Amino acid sequence: MSCCTTDHAPLRMTMTKESQPGDKILLPKLKCQRNCENCKSKQERNGLKDKKKLLLVPLIVFITFLQSQAQEAAPAKTFWDDPFTHPMLPLYVVTALVFITIVLVIVVALYMLKILNLMLKQAEAEKAERSGVVLTPKVSWWQQWWDKMNAAVPVAQEQDIDMGHSFDGIRELDNHLPPWWKWLFYATIVWGVVYIGVYHLFDTLPLSIGEYQNELAVAEEQAIIRKASQPVAAIDENTLVYTTDAAILEKGKVVFLGNCVACHRTDGGGNTIGPNLTDSYWLHGGGIKNIFTTIKTGVVEKGMPAWGKAMSPQEVRNVAFYIMSLQGSNPANGKAPQGERYEEPLKADSAVVKSDSLIVQR
Ligand code: HEC
Repeated sequence: MSCCTTDHAPLRMTMTKESQPGDKILLPKLKCQRNCENCKSKQERNGLKDKKKLLLVPLIVFITFLQSQAQEAAPAKTFWDDPFTHPMLPLYVVTALVFITIVLVIVVALYMLKILNLMLKQAEAEKAERSGVVLTPKVSWWQQWWDKMNAAVPVAQEQDIDMGHSFDGIRELDNHLPPWWKWLFYATIVWGVVYIGVYHLFDTLPLSIGEYQNELAVAEEQAIIRKASQPVAAIDENTLVYTTDAAILEKGKVVFLGNCVACHRTDGGGNTIGPNLTDSYWLHGGGIKNIFTTIKTGVVEKGMPAWGKAMSPQEVRNVAFYIMSLQGSNPANGKAPQGERYEEPLKADSAVVKSDSLIVQR
C-alpha cells in the first residue's frame, strides 16, 4: 500500500475539530510527511519530469526567435520559404548545434549531480547506521525558504497559540499572517507608489484618456495622409458644378443613408433635430455651393457635424449632389420650412457666382 494516503499523514489545520472516539472524520489526501522510500522515489520522478519541461521551454523560445530573425533578415523571401539556399543558413545551423550541445551538457550535468547526491546520501545513511547515530537529513534550501515564507507553527506546538476559545469543538489559534502574504502586500504598496509617480505625479506615461487622445492624433494624421493621396483637385465649393450624374447620386444616397438620416430623416424631410432638406428654404443658403460648404464645415454649435473632417471631398460632393436631387420631392409630414427662401441666381447674374450650371432639378 502506498504511504501517501491519510493513514499516517498528520492532520495539519489551523482549526482542529476535537473528535470524539468513534467519530468518522474524512480526511483530505495529504502530502506524505514521513518521507518514506516509496514517496521519495515518486517525488524524484516528478522532479525530473518538471526539469525536462523546463528545458524544453527555452528551446522552443530559441527556435521562435530564430524564425523571427530569419524573417527580418530577408523580408522579400523568408528563411522558411527556402531554408537551404538562405545565406544565413550556416550561422543558424552552428548556433542551433551550439545551443543543443549546451542544453545536453546541462541535462547530463544535472543527472550526474542527482546521482552523486543520491550516492552521497546513501553513503551517509550507511555510515550513520554502522555507527548507530540517528541521521537527521539535511533540509534543502528550497525547503528552508518554503518554511520561512510560510512560518507556520508546527502541529506539536499549536497549544502555544491556542486562544482558549472553542466553538463547537473548533479551536481558535492565534496564527500570524504568512510572510509570503505580507511580502505580497508590501509589494502592492511599492507598486502603488510607483504607479502614482509614473501616472499622476511625473506623467511619465499617459493615462487612458491620454492614450486615447494619442491614438486619435495618430488616426487624424493617417486620415490627412489618406485624403492627400486621393485625387481631390477638382472638388471645392468654388468650382463645384451640380449635375444629375446617376452614379454620383447613387453614391451620395449611400452616404446620406449611412450618416444623415438620424437627424434629417430617411427622405430628408427633417425631424426634431435637423431641418427639412427638400424644401427651398435654407438656414445656410441653398444651391450646391452653400450646401456643399454647410456639409463640409458643419454648424457644430447647432448640432450639425463638420463632415469634411470625417469624409473625403468626393463623399461630401456626392451627398451634396444627392441633397440637391431631393429638392422639391415634398415628402409626407416634412418639417416646416426654416430660414430663407433660396432663389437660384439667374444666368445673367452669374458675375457673382461664376458657374452658370447651378441648375436645380425641380
Ligand atoms: C447629429 C445630427 C445631424 C446629423 C447626423 C446631420 N445633420 Fe445636417 N443638420 C443638423 C442640424 C441640427 C442642422 C441645422 C443647423 C442650424 O440650425 O443651423 C443641420 C443642417 C444641415 C444642412 C443645412 C440646412 C439649411 O437649412 O441650411 C444641410 C445641407 C445638412 N444638415 C446636411 C447634412 C448631411 C448631408 C448629413 C450627413 C452627411 C447631415 N446633415 C447629418 C443636424 C445633423
